[in-house]
This record gives sequence, structure tokens and C-alpha cells, in this order.
Amino acid sequence: MFDKCFHVAYRYNPRGIPRKQNMVNIAVIGAGYVGLTTGACLSYVGHNVTIADLNASRIAGLQKGEIPFVEPLLSEIVADGLRSERLTFVTGAINACKDAKFHFLCLPTPPDDDGSTDLSFFQTAVDEISEALQPNSIIINKSTVPVGTAKIINEQINRRDISIVSNPEFLAEGNAVNDFLSPSRIVIGAETREDARRVEELYSNIDAPVLLTGWESAELIKHTANAFLAMKLTFVNEIATLCEKTGADIQDVAKGIGYDPRIGASYLNPGPGWGGSCFPKDSSSLVHVARKVGFDFTLLEHTIQLNKKHVERTAGKVLNLLSKEKNSPKVAAWGLTFKAGTDDLRSSPAIEVLSHLIAEGIKICAYDPTVTGTIEQIPEVSIETDPYASVEDADVLVVLTEWEEFNELEMGKVANMMKSPSLVDTRNLFDREEMESVGFTYCGMGL
Ligand code: UGA
Repeated sequence: MFDKCFHVAYRYNPRGIPRKQNMVNIAVIGAGYVGLTTGACLSYVGHNVTIADLNASRIAGLQKGEIPFVEPLLSEIVADGLRSERLTFVTGAINACKDAKFHFLCLPTPPDDDGSTDLSFFQTAVDEISEALQPNSIIINKSTVPVGTAKIINEQINRRDISIVSNPEFLAEGNAVNDFLSPSRIVIGAETREDARRVEELYSNIDAPVLLTGWESAELIKHTANAFLAMKLTFVNEIATLCEKTGADIQDVAKGIGYDPRIGASYLNPGPGWGGSCFPKDSSSLVHVARKVGFDFTLLEHTIQLNKKHVERTAGKVLNLLSKEKNSPKVAAWGLTFKAGTDDLRSSPAIEVLSHLIAEGIKICAYDPTVTGTIEQIPEVSIETDPYASVEDADVLVVLTEWEEFNELEMGKVANMMKSPSLVDTRNLFDREEMESVGFTYCGMGL
């Protein structure tokens, strides 16, 4: 047992990727965002990987190399795996597990109403595979779970010859393949050093610091990383508001603090509020975990509340520009996903901002490079497939995600097409002077 102790080992593999002599058979349960990236990348570095999912039509598509969501490089990596026959897709977890010694759980961990994490997908999958596992197999949890989950799975599996390892993912959407193949670190939480070393060996072709810990620390590292980044962003959004009230410029302030290595230059861009499938869910889950052990995590609770307030403040900027417009005001919105580079609409601050505007009776026409059709949460919003068409006769254009392609549009033409050209740039994507020179009233974040 080395539950409480850990050490850091820096690895360097001069032979590059892939090196095949350590090839092993791996099962990945779940072909969602994490499972597909994990499985495809593990096959890319030389292992034989079988990815399983319950969704038969998703598996049929993947067998033909069809990726069910937008993620750069993933289709190339999957195509490489299919071509080399190191990557296979099957329906049903049990079909992936029978020939493997390593079983990655990459399953959904949705929030319950009280913010806690629903582990039923895990428990069902573990029940399904437990009898079929080969002796001395390792179940490796990749998904984000509350601290204590490895212990629960260990008790559930109740087989002395099966080990549990916690190996959290740090994949950001839009950069997942790079994050897997060139990670900032690999965290492996195990009950014994031998289990940890066996899992570490799976990554021997990847050059990254490896941190070996106990189960609880590995699980808490993942939640802490996301909660800390969320807190950093809330802090930046609060400072951006202070900049607006004091005449400072958030971009200068962020640069000025980012040079300090103790602070770091990343995650300092203000926005409409943070969102996505991870930060909101994981922050709430961590608050819940803390409460369960009798600790009031007030800092994180306030972080979550302040983010909601910031989203309202962002909507307020649009409403403020519309205040003189009495006759059925119209807003054009660019960007609907929770950030650029993805088609993921889960907990998107863009949708939250637009919901506030809808509640005020405002008509909205939107454009997003990856979104078509109707959005369930905001069916009132009409979606255009052309950015110019979305701005016709609009009073305010609100830019909600940071797609670079927005910068390539002719903003003079956009201004001319609008009724009264005002721009709320929640990502500070555009230059104020340039926008004013083509006729916009410009409103950024923290400027
Ligand atoms: C996040 C983490 O970054 C990953 O390390 C982690 O593995 C992943 O969650 C997960 O738990 O699976 P992701 O949800 O893809 O990744 O999103 P981020 O790129 O981190 O962005 C989160 C939110 O912060 C977005 O709404 C984004 O627009 C916002 N953000 C980010 C800013 O407003 N400003 C910034 O400077 C950076």
C-alpha cells in the first residue's frame, strides 16, 4: 500500500511514437468523447484496443471511421487504428473485455439534482463485466468521479485478483488528441505500486511527467484541477468587471499578471462565463463531496454563483444597448457552443445568455459554424447557416464564442446590414478601433 505517498518521475522516450514491443490488449468501455479519444490514441501508440458502447448505431458508424462529434485529428487517429487493425469497435462491454487485461471505464458521470454525481453507468458496467474479466486484470477509471469511487468499485467487483486504478483524463475538447499524446502529466492512482507500474507501462511511448498516487489523491486531483481553473476564470471575469469600472484594460492586466510564473498566462481570457460538460458539473460535484464529509466549500460555492451572475451581467450588456429600441428589438448571436472548436452545447454560457434575452421578449437569430437546426433549450432562436444572414436588421450583434473564422468576416458589410450596428464582443475577439471605424458601437469584456 502507498495510499498517501507519491512521487514524480520524468520520462523521456527518444524512440518516439509508436513503439510496438509493449503492445497489450486493452478494452475501453464507452465510445463517448473520452473513451473514443483514449482508445484511438492508445491504439495509435501501439496497443490493440477494442472500444465498446451500448449504442449500436454509433459503433456501426465508428467501424466505418465516422466520428460522432467535432474533434480535430480524431478521425485521422481512428482511421489509422482501423487501417492497422489495432482498433476495433464492438457493441456491448462484455465483447470488449474477454481478451483484455486492461479495462478503461470511460462512462458518463451525469450530475444528480443536488449536484452529486450519478455513478449508475459505472455500477451497471462493472456488474456486466465483473464475471468475464481475466484473472489479474486491471479496471482503470478514466472518467471524472468523486473521491471514493475507486473504493466503491473495488468493493462492488469483490474479486481479489482484479485491481482498480484511477487514471483521470485531462482532455480539453478541441485539443483532446494533443492532450492525450502530449499530456501535461499522467496521474495514476493505485492501491499497490505494482498496479501503478503496470498502468504506467501502457504510456511508455508518451513523454510526460508521471505522478503515482493513491486512489483518493488521483480522484481529487481531477476535480481540483477543473475547480481551480473555474475559480481562476471567475476571478478574471470579476477583475474584467472591475476594469470596466476603473478604466483599466483586462487584456493588459491579464498579460501583466500572466508573466508571473506563480500565476501563469493561460485561462486568463474573460468571457461570457465558463461552461461545458465538465467545469459546471465537476465544481458542483466537489462542493457536494465536501459537504458530505462535513466541510463547507464556500469558496467554490461562491465561484459557481458568481459565474451565474457573470452570465446575467453579460446578457445585461446586450439589454443595455437595446434599451432605447422600443420596437421589437432583434439580436444576432454568433457562437452557441460552450467555446470555439467544438459542437458541444452542454452547459453553454452562450445558451444561458440567450435564455436571459428570450425572457425579456427579444427576438434572436443565431449563427454557429457547427450548429444547425433547432436548439432544444432555446427553440425560439432561429439558426442561420450564413453569418451575414443572421445579422440582417439586427440591433445588436453578440459574439459568444471565439471562432477565428468570425475574424475573417467583412465587419463593414455586417454593420451595414444591421438596423443599428452595436457589437457586444464577449470574447474580445475584435479590435475596438477597427469596429468603431466601420460604424459599430463596441462593447467588449473588461475594456
Ligand atoms: C476542461 C479542462 O480544461 C480539461 O483539462 C478537462 O480534462 C476537461 O474539462 C474534462 O474534465 O473533461 P473543456 O471542458 O473542454 O476542458 O473546456 P475548457 O477549454 O477548459 O474551457 C472551459 C470553459 O472555460 C469554456 O466555457 C471556455 O470558454 C472557458 N474559458 C477558458 C474562458 O472563458 N477563458 C479562458 O481563458 C479559457
